[in-house]
Amino acid sequence: MACFSVILPAAGSSSRFGRNKLIEPLNGKPVLLHSLRAFTRRADVSQIIVATQSYSAIHEAIVASASSIFVDPRLNFCPGGECRAESVLRAVREMPGDVEWIAVHDAARPLVSQELIDDTFAAAQAHGAAVPALPVNLTIKQCPGPLPAKVVRTVPRQELWAMQTPQIMRRADLLAAYEKCPMPLDQITDDVQLLELIGKEVWLVPGDDRNLKITTPLDLKIAELLMRGDA
Ligand code: CTP
Ligand code: MG
Repeated sequence: MACFSVILPAAGSSSRFGRNKLIEPLNGKPVLLHSLRAFTRRADVSQIIVATQSYSAIHEAIVASASSIFVDPRLNFCPGGECRAESVLRAVREMPGDVEWIAVHDAARPLVSQELIDDTFAAAQAHGAAVPALPVNLTIKQCPGPLPAKVVRTVPRQELWAMQTPQIMRRADLLAAYEKCPMPLDQITDDVQLLELIGKEVWLVPGDDRNLKITTPLDLKIAELLMRGDA
């Protein structure tokens, strides 16, 4: 059985949420615990590294929810970085050299399904790297901000896709891409962008509307409804 290791970047500042969104209760359990469980329940996951600045707050919230996840020997923590790409890099450096596949999954996406993980891993094995994506169904205009400002053009949306996670790729490719990255890491907005920059193939697979990222308190309310089966 092909296995993969998991990185959960969880070192953000939740500035748009207003307080640490990863320990907020969702269906009675911390958001991060849901994201973690999606991977600890799988036999093909060999290791999980959570990159975080707030280990004690996370530990406390998870213990308070009566979860026994800390007995899972695959679970480890490392310090995060200033930007998401740096948090991921710190975690990659903690991985043993024999890890072939890495899945990077936003800790703030607690509703990821097993099918989506299966499909993304299968596509990564077939093509080298894969990401779930949703069609952009908004009309997008190019316009220099801040507003008010004059529209430059309407961007055709047929070829635009919004990225989700998990983003799955080879450890060796990701490390090589970090080494050759031609721009500051705080300009990297997702993991496979690094691979694209060194000419590696990245494939998109159909994403899932339910796999939303908790960004604002409204997202948490939507996630609560989705979990209860009301939406
Ligand atoms: N993240 C991280 N390290 C950073 C910044 C972000 O590990 N320096 C993680 C977040 O914890 C989150 C994921 O990357 O799980 C996606 O980031 P986002 O949703 O933007 O979360 P925050 O950066 O925490 O939120 P905000 O941008 O509102 O401050
Ligand atoms: Mg952020």
